[in-house]
This record gives sequence, C-alpha cells and structure tokens, in this order.
Amino acid sequence: MTENADDRTVLIVDDDPSMRAALRQWIRLAGFATVEVAGADEAMSRLSPDFDGCVVSDVKLEGDDGLELLRRIASRDTDLPVVLITGHGDVPMAVEAMRAGAYDFIEKPFDPDHIAEVVRRAADKRALVMENRALKKQLEEGAGLESRLIGNSPAMETLRQQILHFAKTDAAVLITGETGTGKEVIAQALHDFSLRSDGPFVAINAAALPEAMVEAELFGHEAGAFTGADRRHIGRIEAAHNGVLFLDEIVSMPLVLQPKLLRVLQESKVDRIGGTKSIDVNTRLVSASNLHPGEAVRSGRLREDLLFRLNTIELHVPPLRERGRDCLLLFDTFSNRLAVQYGIGAPGLSVRDEAFLQTYPWPGNVRELRNAAERFVLNAEVNPQPLEALVTGQREPSDPTRSTGLKDLMDEYERSLIENALRRHKGRVADVLRELNLPRRTLNEKMARHGLTREQAGPTETSET
Ligand SMILES: Nc1ncnc2c1ncn2[C@@H]1O[C@H](COP(=O)(O)OP(=O)(O)OP(=O)(O)O)[C@@H](O)[C@H]1O
Ligand SMILES: [Mg+2]
Repeated sequence: MTENADDRTVLIVDDDPSMRAALRQWIRLAGFATVEVAGADEAMSRLSPDFDGCVVSDVKLEGDDGLELLRRIASRDTDLPVVLITGHGDVPMAVEAMRAGAYDFIEKPFDPDHIAEVVRRAADKRALVMENRALKKQLEEGAGLESRLIGNSPAMETLRQQILHFAKTDAAVLITGETGTGKEVIAQALHDFSLRSDGPFVAINAAALPEAMVEAELFGHEAGAFTGADRRHIGRIEAAHNGVLFLDEIVSMPLVLQPKLLRVLQESKVDRIGGTKSIDVNTRLVSASNLHPGEAVRSGRLREDLLFRLNTIELHVPPLRERGRDCLLLFDTFSNRLAVQYGIGAPGLSVRDEAFLQTYPWPGNVRELRNAAERFVLNAEVNPQPLEALVTGQREPSDPTRSTGLKDLMDEYERSLIENALRRHKGRVADVLRELNLPRRTLNEKMARHGLTREQAGPTETSET
C-alpha cells in the first residue's frame, strides 16, 4: 500500500520554523507530500473528511497544544492518525499522548528512519480506513439501487453491478429492452449514482413530441429564429449541461435531426436554431430503445454513425418472463407498498394466483405487473378476484369440475415453461431441448399433450423440424 506514497499528504504542525523544515525534509525523503502549519487552528482548517494522509504535530504549540489538537481532530474523525513529537526522555508526556489516542509518538532529536517508518504506518492505516469507507459507501448505494431496481435473478444482480460501475464513468450508455422493463429507472440510476448527481437529469422522448417540435426542443432557438419563436428558448441538450441527457426511444429520433445530434455528441457543442455561435455543453448521454437498434439501422431508421456514438456501453434489460421468480418478489413489494399507501391490508396470493404470476408472459413487463398489483390491492376488500381474471379480463371459469389441485398447476407451469422457451428461442427446437435438458421425444410428447406447436410459439427462424 506504500506504492503511491507520493500523492499522500502529511500535515506538519509545529510553531518552530526550523523544526518544520527538518520534518519536511525527512518526510519528503520518505516519499510523501507535506503541508506545514504553525498552530492547531490552522491545522484544523486544512483537514477535510477525505484527507488521505496523517498528522505529525509537536506536543508544545502556542495556543492549543498538540494534545488539544489531537482531541479536536478525534472529535471530528477518530480514524485520522495523529503522530505527536515529544521532548527527549519526556516519558510521562509520551504516555499521556498515547492514552489520549495518538497513533504514535516521535522523540526529539529525530531519527529519520524512525520518522519515515512511523509516518508510513500511519498513512497506510489511513489508506485502509479510506478504502473501507469507499467500500461501505458503495454497498449503501447498492442497497439503495436494490430497492429501486428490484429483483434477485442473476440477470438483475449483474445489471445492478454494471449500473453502479458505469455510473462512475462518462461513457455513453444505450439501454435496450422491451416496454416496461425498467429502462427509465436505469437511466435515472445512472444519473443518481454518478458524480453528476448534483447536475440535472433531462429526459426527452422524440416519440412523444410532434416531429416539427423535436428540433426546437432539443437544440433550442433564438428569438425570431422562425415564425412563432418570439423569445429565446433553451433546448434540452443545453439544459443537461453538467448532468445527464436521456434520449428515450432513440429510434424515433427524426432522421433529418440525427446528423445534427451526432455533431453535438462529437464536438460537445450545440447550435441553437437561428443562433450565430455554438455553445459548449458538457453532458453525459444515456439513451434507450425498446426496438433492436441494429435492426433500426438496417431498416434505415437510425444512422449507424449515431448508433456508434450512443452504444459505447450497451445494457440489455431482460423481459420479466425471463427473470424467474423476480415476478413474485416484485408483486409482493408493489402490493405491500401500495397497501401502505392506500392504508389498507395487503391481500395474500392464492396458489393459483402465484402460479399465474409465474406463467403469464407479462408482455407489458414490470409496468403491467405493477398495474396488476394495484388492481389486486384495490379490489381485495370490495370485490376480490383471482389475479388471472384481473389481468386478462377473463372471467374465472365457472366450471365446477375444474380443479386447482397441484397436478393441474404443475401441468400449467410445464406448459408455460415450454411455451416460453419456444418463444425465447424463436421456435428453434434444438435450443429448447438444450435449455430444458430434455430428449427430443419427451419434448414432442409434451408439446403434443399441451397442444403447442413451434409456429404458434412465435415467428420461427429456421426450417428445422
Ligand atoms: N426492477 C424494478 N423494480 C421496481 N420497479 C421497477 C423495476 N423495473 C421497472 N419498474 C417500474 O415499472 C415501471 C416501468 O418502468 P420504466 O418506465 O423504467 O420502463 P421502460 O423500460 O422505460 O418502459 P418503456 O419502454 O415503455 O418506456 C415504472 O413504474 C418503474 O418504476
Ligand atoms: Mg421508458
């Protein structure tokens, strides 16, 4: 831990200039930077919470002495090592210093090797403290993210780690995933857990604006730039200065504006419509798409050069039906939160509700699930209904012979697992066999029993039979 000794600082406190000079010399030789002050007040003003070195102070100072300084430092940060300098043979003073919490003491006259050794140990200890604090902070942030981006599936764990990691960089991030999977939650988290969190988070969704307005919204305009532009308007890009610009549904960005947007990204400058000079903007770009961006390039809706600017990092959010039991956790969390919000009891799920939760494909993903939880909670007291009926609108079959026994539920579960696998692999039976680890004959039998065909499971990609 001593490799970077050079950028760590030792604060020298002594009211005798010649002593300071001597200490400076030995401590610098040991590879540290130094800051020198003559008294306790000045010393306190030089210490910040992220001070990464240690303090070396004479016990005898004008004003507050070294012991008093030690107490003042400890009351602010107990983990900041203070080394005190005592007179030769002043054993009682040395004992008192240690008792008061000094990290160590150095006796006059100085032994340079001893100084170097003590300072190095103290600074190493401080480095460890700082490392632990950073780690703890990261964990706390992670916990914060866990309650915003809920899910225990490996995919969500990985996604949260990636978000915390990439939030600390300025790289452009493209978030892809179906509707309702949490793209906006992620974009917001990339802002909130970044060094730009004090700056603005500015979102713009080209799909939600009339095409004619997108340009003025994005780039802004000067007064009189066009008919109706009676005053200057600051565009969204400019508004995102020192923060994060979130371009939602990037594939809907009008083609004619894409080169202009590209210029902003390449040169960090924006031109207001009707303006005469470019304005510098420093913003971090996050974009999202619920379509496959590569396909949008192929079909000519998205410029390839723009995509290359946007997707330095690509985060894919898997659909809910591929997150295993996350839907149960999400439903539980949402219904509990909503119940608290509405001041009513959170209803429990029946076995059939639970089975439905895990087998329904949730095309609207987390948004749809959240709506279902809300309706479930609100209906629970006045008009309790099975979740399936609430979500699909289908009345519960009144067929009294229909059993809700374990066998039926298992059957239903099996059917949906196979159906989802077929859909996920676009009807490629070989991939389904591999994923479910089934012999071909067994799969054929099960598909026949459940009335499943490859075609019905979605568009097929290969002609494999
Ligand atoms: N993992 C999650 N944990 C908790 N809430 C979530 C999670 N994912 C999404 N949500 C919630 O689900 C809803 C939809 O999320 P969001 O708006 O981020 O989706 P989206 O991917 O941007 O959808 P769209 O493509 O339709 O814009 C929001 O209410 C959001 O708070
Ligand atoms: Mg969205």
